[in-house]
Amino acid sequence: MSLRGVRPSQARSLDISAQGGNVWVVLAAAGSGERLGADRPKAFVRLGALPLLAESLRRLEESEWVDAIVVAAPPDWEEPAILLAEELGAGKVSAVVRGGATRAESVRIALDEVPEDAVAALVHDAARPLVTDEIVGRVLGPLSEGWDGVVPALPIADTVKRVRGDEVVETLARGELVAAQTPQAFVADVLRAAVSEGDSSAADCASMVEARGGRVKIVPGDPRLLKVTTPEDLELVSTWL
Ligand code: C5P
Repeated sequence: MSLRGVRPSQARSLDISAQGGNVWVVLAAAGSGERLGADRPKAFVRLGALPLLAESLRRLEESEWVDAIVVAAPPDWEEPAILLAEELGAGKVSAVVRGGATRAESVRIALDEVPEDAVAALVHDAARPLVTDEIVGRVLGPLSEGWDGVVPALPIADTVKRVRGDEVVETLARGELVAAQTPQAFVADVLRAAVSEGDSSAADCASMVEARGGRVKIVPGDPRLLKVTTPEDLELVSTWL
């Protein structure tokens, strides 16, 4: 498909409407998910009848915006990830790579599989299974307005304090704070440069783009993009399926 939301300059130079192949997704699924307390990595914990990874994979496969997907699988779970993609008929999965020690490292390894002519790269956490076509479109749109990156985010209801041990050091101005989610969208070249030089402990990809002076826009997130961290999260998300 053609991309309706990229920088016009890039769109022209890459002739993106011709063949597609320009919006790539890196699906970060290589985390261990220790806080779930399961006997397997989080991506392979059951959500309904299938592994957690299946839900985001299926949804991204069906997204009209997405041309190709690279999955960063937990070490030694590459084969099950490939089999799952086959079982789902996820023909957009172009590669399954062995993830790294950190999320940023997993994204860097996966980005090596994204071709030079990719225009936009989305990075999504497999731990957020309920990704929608609507949110994918929402994060891709502002790339055509000159933004380097786009992050879906939610307002924070609680007051947030910086602490050292059990002592409050600072109370942050809540009006300036949001909670960042994924999928995050980037101009592919910008993301590649940021991730190759970025801090491997970075919590998300946008922070690496920000650190190099990139302009990152916030768009409304979705409460159902909850990141599954605990068994209670898994239970809650399963009621939303
Ligand atoms: O650990 P957490 O749930 O915050 O990780 C966010 C996402 O990053 C998850 O989907 C997880 O699978 C992924 N991740 C990864 N490689 C790592 C650590 C986390 O792909 N080494």
